[in-house]
Amino acid sequence: MLSDSNQQDRWEKRYLDGKTGWDRGGPSPALEFGLARMPCPPARVLIPACGRGYEIAELASRGYRVTGVDFAQSAVTDLQEILQAQQLKADIVASDLFAWEAEKPFDVIYEQTALCALEPQQWPEYAERLYRWLHPGGLLIGAFMQTHRAGGPPWHCALETVEELFPVDKWDWPEQKDRTIAHPSGLKELAITLKRCK
Ligand SMILES: C[S@@+](CC[C@H](N)C(=O)[O-])C[C@H]1O[C@@H](n2cnc3c(N)ncnc32)[C@H](O)[C@@H]1O
Repeated sequence: MLSDSNQQDRWEKRYLDGKTGWDRGGPSPALEFGLARMPCPPARVLIPACGRGYEIAELASRGYRVTGVDFAQSAVTDLQEILQAQQLKADIVASDLFAWEAEKPFDVIYEQTALCALEPQQWPEYAERLYRWLHPGGLLIGAFMQTHRAGGPPWHCALETVEELFPVDKWDWPEQKDRTIAHPSGLKELAITLKRCK
């Protein structure tokens, strides 16, 4: 199910109006947590709904081969400028995640406040795509937004919902499920790393 054009326009407008409360201006602390679990460079990493993608620059500087996808053209342009200024290379695609396909599966997907930005009716298809975009045994490093309120975006990604979207017959779950990361909005994200079953 493609996103409707209003969704794309709304996100682009947020960037144009500077209403980007989620933007840290640098890599999230969740990345350090993820890096401790990631395979070594030059593993291939996908960052869906990457926004200005500071994590992409950080991973590229460490030798990872990174792909970022986002449909907000301003964010993509800003990200390309960030990469160029640091003389870093990454594959940046301006596209709706539901119109894009991976040429080959990735070793790692770093999912940071992407699920919460999508409409909940898109979540099951998005979860299927994440599964398809990873190698068997690949890692999904997730930072799932916790708003504890109705409506969105950002939508509340309750642990129970995440468990339904990423079921144990398809994903290996860690024992610890309560690790949180502070978000610039004052909210918290649940940091969970899942492994795609073989
Ligand atoms: C809350 S921002 C998070 C950006 C980035 N992950 C971060 O943490 O800074 C959500 C991002 O999702 C993008 N987005 C939302 N729906 C999308 C879709 N269907 N396809 C591609 N990008 C999408 C928006 O353009 C926006 O950049």
